[in-house]
Amino acid sequence: MTPDTAGRLAAAAARTESVLSTLLPAVDGPEGRLAEAMRYAVLGPGKRLRPFLVFEAGSVLGIEADRLERAACALECVHAYSLVHDDLPCMDDDDLRRGRPTVHRAFDEATAVLAGDALQTLAFEILGAPETHPDGRVRADLVVCLARASGARGMCGGQMIDLSGRSDDLGTVARMQRLKTGALISAAFEFPLILSHAQDPDRHALLAFAHDLGLAYQIVDDLLDVEGESAVVGKATGKDAGRGKINFVTLLGVADARARLDLIADQACAHLDPLGARADPLRGCLEFVLDRRR
Ligand code: IPE
Ligand code: IPE
Ligand code: MG
Ligand code: MG
Ligand code: MG
Repeated sequence: MTPDTAGRLAAAAARTESVLSTLLPAVDGPEGRLAEAMRYAVLGPGKRLRPFLVFEAGSVLGIEADRLERAACALECVHAYSLVHDDLPCMDDDDLRRGRPTVHRAFDEATAVLAGDALQTLAFEILGAPETHPDGRVRADLVVCLARASGARGMCGGQMIDLSGRSDDLGTVARMQRLKTGALISAAFEFPLILSHAQDPDRHALLAFAHDLGLAYQIVDDLLDVEGESAVVGKATGKDAGRGKINFVTLLGVADARARLDLIADQACAHLDPLGARADPLRGCLEFVLDRRR
């Protein structure tokens, strides 16, 4: 990662965390434990990739960060909720996330379910509020976009395929990855497109790039499960094969999965060609995704 990309990522993360801490409920009253679990889940040491992508895609379209920050926070809330539920005993049954006990370990299962639920609804409350955009139609488009990306034909649908163990061919694996991880990553590009009313060819280039970036991101996650060290990755490693998970790495092996990743990365880069130097920040994002160790 270049120093420029690292600096931009750090700035995006700092802005996201600062705005999120004002949007999250205060730890107060008899329900305070829920607010505490929500804060633990969302403000823990995550990479803030999706908010970073919202800011970077927005900068390509000439949108200032303060017009993007609430949408970026909403997306991070849904992402954090997806992780809290993904770690539950009824799903991946993980004890470690972001180098700390998972939410159901630090609190309890019922609190983790509720914290995920409340983070999800908070995301839609943020998008629907007038502070996000003065035009109600724009806000409605943001809400629909996030609902689609999160729901049965998005992240939740992908999680269902993942848990079903029925993704035993490359086409189904690609679709599972596209839904469980790619849909929220694509939303990071759709948000600034909605906020700026951008038209083709920018729209086409950004969405095609988002599609390949999402696929690349999950393949790297699956490679880290095999090749990474838990202390660096911040979660248990070596767990996917043992649990019968089917992904590009368990299906093709490390070398072929890496070859496929290289191909997808080249293709992602090619999608940015029409945008020229304007898309340099996104080339930095791709490099970050490919080089990440956690
Ligand atoms: C982990 O997402 C789950 C996947 C979709 C691969 P991240 O790797 O973005 O997790 P954090 O937010 O940085 O912890
Ligand atoms: C999780 O994929 C994707 C979502 C949370 C939607 P994984 O199950 O591979 O993510 P990790 O490895 O637990 O972070
Ligand atoms: Mg999972
Ligand atoms: Mg998991
Ligand atoms: Mg994983």
